[in-house]
Amino acid sequence: MRHFLQMKDFTRDEYEHLLERAKILKARFKNYIPYQPLTDRMLAMVFEKSSTRTRVSFEAGIYQLGGQAIHLDSQSTQLGRSEPIEDTARVISRMVDLVMIRTFEQEKVEQFAAHSRVPVINGLTNEYHPCQVLADIFTYVEQRGSLTGKTVAWIGDANNMSYTWLEAARIFDFKLNVATPKGYEMKSQRGETLDNAYLAAFTDPMLAAKGAHLVTTDVWTSMGYEAETEARKNAFAGFCVDRKMMAAADKDALFMHCLPAHRGEEVSADVIDGPQSVVWEEAENRLHVQKALMEFLLLGRINS
Ligand code: CP
Ligand code: NVA
Repeated sequence: MRHFLQMKDFTRDEYEHLLERAKILKARFKNYIPYQPLTDRMLAMVFEKSSTRTRVSFEAGIYQLGGQAIHLDSQSTQLGRSEPIEDTARVISRMVDLVMIRTFEQEKVEQFAAHSRVPVINGLTNEYHPCQVLADIFTYVEQRGSLTGKTVAWIGDANNMSYTWLEAARIFDFKLNVATPKGYEMKSQRGETLDNAYLAAFTDPMLAAKGAHLVTTDVWTSMGYEAETEARKNAFAGFCVDRKMMAAADKDALFMHCLPAHRGEEVSADVIDGPQSVVWEEAENRLHVQKALMEFLLLGRINS
């Protein structure tokens, strides 16, 4: 049994398989060709934070594959009344085939997985958002080909997305330029080596964007850190991805944002709504890569 809790849980070869399957499943979806290998399979989705894309893409995805989904949150389950995560995992995993969790600490998804009888997927934690980066890589490959040897510029907060990009850089062998304000730099949060073979740190976002093939950013204040919003608005002023920054990047550079976005803060409206932006394709691709992921976790490598 496999879990998908962070990028390093899968090998490059397994990612190549997932990207290929996502392409096939996307083509079937676009052509209205039914494909239901997960008939009678049940996905439990546990949300301890808000979501639009993750919920819709997992729920629509499992239905399209022939299965069904149960949506759970902390307010209306015993999780919100302190039932231990281990007991919740033991119970839920006896009744369903697959679990997706969005929560706070990465330790929680790890604890859940350690006590689960079925595969567990990380739908975002404070530390990582692997489903999103998988969709982003699929989107880049779809638009421009392989990311290997290319440069990705991450502008703004060192958050769950940037740490996931760093894991992806090691696996897919690309360079990650990260620009953060002083005091918000990437740290070795869970004992990761901040390997400078893959990571270059900047405090000037223009330098990080220079020559990049993909420029990407995210909100200045992630879910769970709302108390820091005002301080972060001050610290991150100057870290808006705007036309000038995109002009410093490679001429074929793409812009991505996992969404939701704040126009005028981390990205200007003319960039996110402009010709280099692929944010809507990126959002749609959550559906296709996660269908490939669910197929892989429940059925292994399918080639039909
Ligand atoms: N990008 C993303 O995960 O969006 P949601 O928070 O809407 O799920
Ligand atoms: N970094 C953001 C991503 C939202 C999809 C957050 O954690 O709130």
